[in-house]
Amino acid sequence: MFLIDKGVHAQTKAVVATRAKPLGITVLEVDSLSIPAGTSYFGLLVQYPDTTGAIVDYSKVADSAHDAGALIIAAADLLALTLLKAPGEWGADIAVGSAQRFGVPMGFGGPHAGFMAVRTGLERSLPGRLVGQSVDAHGNPAFRLALQTREQHIRRDKATSNICTAQVLLANMSAFYAMWHGPAGLTRIAERIHNYAAQLASVVDTENKSYFDTLTIKVADASATHAKAKALKINLGVVDATHVRISFDETITDSIFASIASIFGFKVAPAQGSGIATALKRTSTFLQHPVFNTYFSETAMLRYLRTLADRDLALDRTMIPLGSCTMKLNATTEMEAVTWPEFASLHPFAPAEQTQGSRLLIDQLSKWLLEITGYDAVSLQPNAGSQGEFAGLLAIRNYHDSRGDSSRNICLIPSSAHGTNAASAVMAGMKVVVIECDEAGNVSLDDLKAKIADHGATLAALMVTYPSTHGVFESAISEICALVHDAGGQVYVDGANLNALVGTAQPGKFGADVSHLNLHKTFCIPHGGGGPGVGPVIAKAHLAPFLPNHPLDALAGPATGPGPISAAPYGSASILPISWAYIRLMGGEGLTHATEVAILNANYMAYRLKDSYPILYTGNKGLVAHECILDVREITKESGVTVDDIAKRLMDFGFHAPTMSFPVSGTLMIEPTESEDILEMNRFIDAMIAIRYEISEITDGKIAVEDSALRHAPHTIGTIASSTWERSYPRERAAFPATLTGLIPGELIGMKGKYWPTTGRIDGAYGDRNLVCSCPPVEAFA
Ligand SMILES: Cc1ncc(COP(=O)(O)O)c(C=O)c1O
Repeated sequence: MFLIDKGVHAQTKAVVATRAKPLGITVLEVDSLSIPAGTSYFGLLVQYPDTTGAIVDYSKVADSAHDAGALIIAAADLLALTLLKAPGEWGADIAVGSAQRFGVPMGFGGPHAGFMAVRTGLERSLPGRLVGQSVDAHGNPAFRLALQTREQHIRRDKATSNICTAQVLLANMSAFYAMWHGPAGLTRIAERIHNYAAQLASVVDTENKSYFDTLTIKVADASATHAKAKALKINLGVVDATHVRISFDETITDSIFASIASIFGFKVAPAQGSGIATALKRTSTFLQHPVFNTYFSETAMLRYLRTLADRDLALDRTMIPLGSCTMKLNATTEMEAVTWPEFASLHPFAPAEQTQGSRLLIDQLSKWLLEITGYDAVSLQPNAGSQGEFAGLLAIRNYHDSRGDSSRNICLIPSSAHGTNAASAVMAGMKVVVIECDEAGNVSLDDLKAKIADHGATLAALMVTYPSTHGVFESAISEICALVHDAGGQVYVDGANLNALVGTAQPGKFGADVSHLNLHKTFCIPHGGGGPGVGPVIAKAHLAPFLPNHPLDALAGPATGPGPISAAPYGSASILPISWAYIRLMGGEGLTHATEVAILNANYMAYRLKDSYPILYTGNKGLVAHECILDVREITKESGVTVDDIAKRLMDFGFHAPTMSFPVSGTLMIEPTESEDILEMNRFIDAMIAIRYEISEITDGKIAVEDSALRHAPHTIGTIASSTWERSYPRERAAFPATLTGLIPGELIGMKGKYWPTTGRIDGAYGDRNLVCSCPPVEAFA
């Protein structure tokens, strides 16, 4: 059993309930200060400060939880923690929360970075991406993604989570906020906020004996108080007929506080005392790393940001041909509205009449997505494709349950599927059964029929990607859907690859019951280094009653829904204007044309590269869909050159690597998208052909693979400029492997526009063995 404290936010409780149910976890709401003796539980979630604003001392609760063999999780507020004793110091095993507080706009609920920190010993069970520090080939520190064997793209149904796209951009934004203000500045902001709360606490009838920024206030008539507040353009929290709630943030000013004084009828006066008990005051230091204590002038910060950007091999510098990722143009026009206060400053639970513009946009975008896909109902709540998968599979489960078909729990997933599919099925309480693919990369109809026969009345769903992650349109897709339906199952079509379908085929019409879409792929939301995203779950009418809803927003989903899967009713609402603008700018004809060009570009790549690298799969007409897989396995056997070698060497040419070893080990998957013009594609093709020539030098015995530029790639400026050069190939070739024509006609990339990799080849195994915090040790500051 999992316990959740009564003081946790209502939306958090609801998300926990939605996610616990399919896993068969019982959730019980308790007062954590008086958990009945003998209660058997494995985990307890408390909130610090809690939803009423109170700061509870949970140290004894943590001791009892540990005595009961349970872990205690603190949902904490980052800004409050600058003044409060850290959860890890009073015994919490895990701290979670939102980093919105650190400079990220409310945005009608998102996107915001969530954080999760654990005590030593739990790190290998963490979900999602972990950045660890390793060393590169020159012994320099180098950051990389660590412990990936926990993750869905490798561990599939046994992964620690289904997380793929995350909230990296928002994590970076809040990190920059922390760097800009530093620990002293953050503390000052927190103290200022706390001081306003303390001023208010001194003069109103509050139930809070403790508080940081939030007070629950007793009033004679809450609706009259709300009416007064609204007239002054202030929203108060709704508690009950005689209580309102108020929360301060860093935007509070004396003049807003004067309005608050007029609502509650008091005279502004200095605060009497503090809302934080001495025992819970923070005494430990935090954010001591130099990065949080250096960039305090605007010029210095600007230059720091520029330095980081220069190290990035991003879309504004080169094509990012990541297959299955659809890295396409994110036009400035599409993105501009994200920063407008009309979208950026909305609270997720602001009254519906104040949020009509966003709701209209959501409504229009929803209708357009339905028209594009041929489905009947959509929820924009999921924050990523993986979360859309979870919501879609949950809809399937609840649909079966509603028909008394509760034994249907088998989810058939082709071996080619994205790892999120299997991990999501497990989260939805299903059992994964893998379907083989045939030699052409298609779902094996024979294996599908056999597995359907094996599982008969327990078949819940088939989860299939179309076009497949092998980069082909399976000609048997309608037959596959029919076979599953005949056996009483539902068909989930993973719509992450919709860039190959928009305007030409509709999953809702060719036999699918439900899909997720990745608005951060086809519909132009930038990937932000790994997120944010939006993963709408979109379904036929019979599954509509089972799409996500929200306890605090009746308009956010059907009353019959499973509950929220995200804390905000419309998930990452503030980035929806990007997709809205893309569709609006393109129109139906433009979208169809984009699909055609995306497919044409992938086939051009495949055609031009096929003599150098065999194309692993093509459809029955010898063509690929929106991406193509280069088979490097024979090349590796003959030469020892691996996909890693090719990917790293591409950096010397100034290109980002394609997707490596997914979905087939030893291959490279390329998706140029419609955004790349022929010049950029030709530059990339020329680089790949030049690399093939370097490989042939190895197979011809001219150079050993260990000595080759391929194995030593990428070449940093430090390597090239070193006083010794004992390599078997010239420096020029290392740094300037080809005179590729540049963006400015006639200019040679490699001379003026050279991208210099900043890190040599990273030692992956070292990084996994020595997972360390990215903070330098204390001694480094001595
Ligand atoms: C085919 C496929 N399915 C699912 C996903 C998961 O989507 P997300 O990364 O938004 O969670 C991806 C993303 O890479 C994908 O390519």
